[in-house]
Amino acid sequence: MNIRDLYINYFVSKGHKQIPSSPVVPENDPSVLFNTAGMQPLIPYLMGQPHPYGTRLCDYQKCIRTNDLDSVGDKTHHTFFEMLGNWSLGDYFKKESIMYSFDFLTNVLKIPVEKIAVTVFEGDKDIPRDIVSADMWKSLGIDKNKIAFLGKEDNFWIAGDTGPCGGDTEIFYFRSNDEVPSKFDPNDERWVEIWNNVFMEFYKDEKGNVTELPKKNVDTGMGLERVAAVLEGVDDNYKTSIWKNIISKICDIAKVNYEGNEESIRIIADHIRTSVFISADPSSIKPSNTDQGYILRRLIRRAIRHAKKLNIDINSNWEEQIALEVINQYKDYYSELIENKDVVLEVLKNEKIKFNRTLEKGLKEFEKITKDLKDKVLNKDLAFKLYDTYGFPIELTVELANELNIDVDVEGFKEKFKHHQELSRAGSTAKFKGGLSSTSDMNIKYHTATHLLNAALKQVLGSHVHQKGSNITDERMRFDFSHDSKMTDDQIKQTEDLVNKYIEMALPVTKVEMNKQDAIKSGAECMFIEKYPDIVTVYTIGDVSKELCGGPHVSNTSELGHFKIKKEESSSAGVRRIKAILE
Ligand code: ALA
Repeated sequence: MNIRDLYINYFVSKGHKQIPSSPVVPENDPSVLFNTAGMQPLIPYLMGQPHPYGTRLCDYQKCIRTNDLDSVGDKTHHTFFEMLGNWSLGDYFKKESIMYSFDFLTNVLKIPVEKIAVTVFEGDKDIPRDIVSADMWKSLGIDKNKIAFLGKEDNFWIAGDTGPCGGDTEIFYFRSNDEVPSKFDPNDERWVEIWNNVFMEFYKDEKGNVTELPKKNVDTGMGLERVAAVLEGVDDNYKTSIWKNIISKICDIAKVNYEGNEESIRIIADHIRTSVFISADPSSIKPSNTDQGYILRRLIRRAIRHAKKLNIDINSNWEEQIALEVINQYKDYYSELIENKDVVLEVLKNEKIKFNRTLEKGLKEFEKITKDLKDKVLNKDLAFKLYDTYGFPIELTVELANELNIDVDVEGFKEKFKHHQELSRAGSTAKFKGGLSSTSDMNIKYHTATHLLNAALKQVLGSHVHQKGSNITDERMRFDFSHDSKMTDDQIKQTEDLVNKYIEMALPVTKVEMNKQDAIKSGAECMFIEKYPDIVTVYTIGDVSKELCGGPHVSNTSELGHFKIKKEESSSAGVRRIKAILE
C-alpha cells in the first residue's frame, strides 16, 4: 500500500473523516494564486465555523508552490506536491496529535525511533515555552537530546502574513547511512523535516494584531514526495517511485538516459505534471499573461524549451504522452484528471503550437543578441522584444541568459512592460504577474469604480476596510474587502449612494509617480505593499481616494454613469464580496 493510503487509513481508524482534496485554485481566497498548504481550504473552519464532516479531518491536498519555480531542475524542488494532513477543530490538542504522529511513523511506516528528532517552540514574550509537547515526545521515547527548542522563525507557523497561526513541533528524519548522532542538530542537513504539527491558537490580522481563536486546533502537514524520498532512501527526489514512470516515459521519448540529462528531464516531468493538474482544475485556467494563466504558460513554455534541449521532436505528440502518463498515475485519486483529460491535452497542445511558431526564431534572435553583447547585460529593449515578438516569458529569457552568465535588466523590462500597457490602454494591474489583460473603456470605468467603492466602504463601515481582491469584466465588477459581518440593507444603500455622489461630483482623477515609502506616508491605500516596485504610481480621485495602482483610469468620475450594487456576500472568513454594475 502506498504512503497516501496508509496515512488516510490510519487517521480514519482514529476517528477522522476523510475530506476531498479541494481544487488547486482556491475558490474563495483572492490573496493566493494556488493552494500552498493543506490547511488553506480549511481556514474558515480553523477560525470557528463548524465543519460539516465534524471535528477530526484528514486528507491529501494537491498544492502548488511557485516561488521556487525557476529552481526546479535540481534534486529537491518541484512545483506541485501533495500534502497529507490531519486536523482537530477544537477536538484533541498537542498530546494526542503528537501521539498519532509518533504512532504512525514508528508503527505504520516502521521508522526506527532513533532516526527521529523534533523541534519544539521555545516561547517568546507572548507565548510560553511548549513544555507540554516536549514532555509528550519524551514520554513516547524520544531522547531529550533529540528535542531542540527553537524560536519564532522556526517553530511558529502562519500561511503568509495573516490568518490562523500558532507554535508548532516539527518532526525530522535522519536521512543518511552514517551513524545517528546522539545529539540532534537542526542545522545538520542529514536531518530532514518530514512533518509539521501546528497548534493553531491565534489569528493574526492585517494590522499585526494577534487574538485568540475561539477554539484550539491542530493543523498538520506532511509532504508526500519528501516522505517518499526519505523512506525510499534516495538522495534525489526524482528517483522515487512517484516519478519513475513519468521519467522513464520522457527518457523513452527523448531516447536518452536520466543520468547526464537530469536537469531538463526533471523540468519537463515537474512542469508537465503541474500543468496537467492546473488545466484539469475546475477553475478552467488557460495559458494567458495574467495570474494563474501566466504560471501555466511559463510552465508549458519552459517544458517545451527543455524538450527541445533534449532534441525531442516538438511537433510530435511528446507532451500528450507524458500528460497521459501523469493522468494514468493519479487518476484513481483525482477523478478530474479523467473527466477533463481532453481539456488538458488540448491546453498543452494549443500552447505548444502557439509557442512553437516563434520559438525557433526567438532562439536564433537570442543567440544573435547575446553574441553582440559587450557588457554581459541584456537590456530592457531586447528582453521586451523577446517577450513581445517571440513570446518568451521574461523568466525564460533570464534562464537562457544565465546559462551564458549574462544578466537581464528585469526591472527595466517591467517598467517598459508597464509603460507599453498604459500606452495601449491595457494597463497592467499593480500586482506584476505579467498582465496583458485587454482593457476596454468599460473595464477602465469599472476599475475607477473599485477605488470609489473602496473609499465609500471606509466611510460607511469604518477604516478597517481594505481591498482584498477584485475582478473586472466588461459587464460587472467584483470587489473583496475585509469586514466581519454581513452588510445591512441600509449600509448597502448608503455605500451605493455615496459612490453615486462621488460620480455626480465630477471629481478629477489624477496620477503621480513617487517613491513607494513616500506614497505610503502620504496615506495612499495599497493592497500588497511588497508587490510594488520602488517607484509607484498613485491615483488620486478628488479628495475622496488615494491608492497605489497601475491604472488605467478614467480622467473624471462623471464618465462612470450610475453605480448599482447587485449582491453582497461572504467571500471567505473575514472577507466580504460585492458584485456591482455601472449602468
Ligand atoms: N500548515 C502547515 C504546513 O504547511 C502544517 O507546514
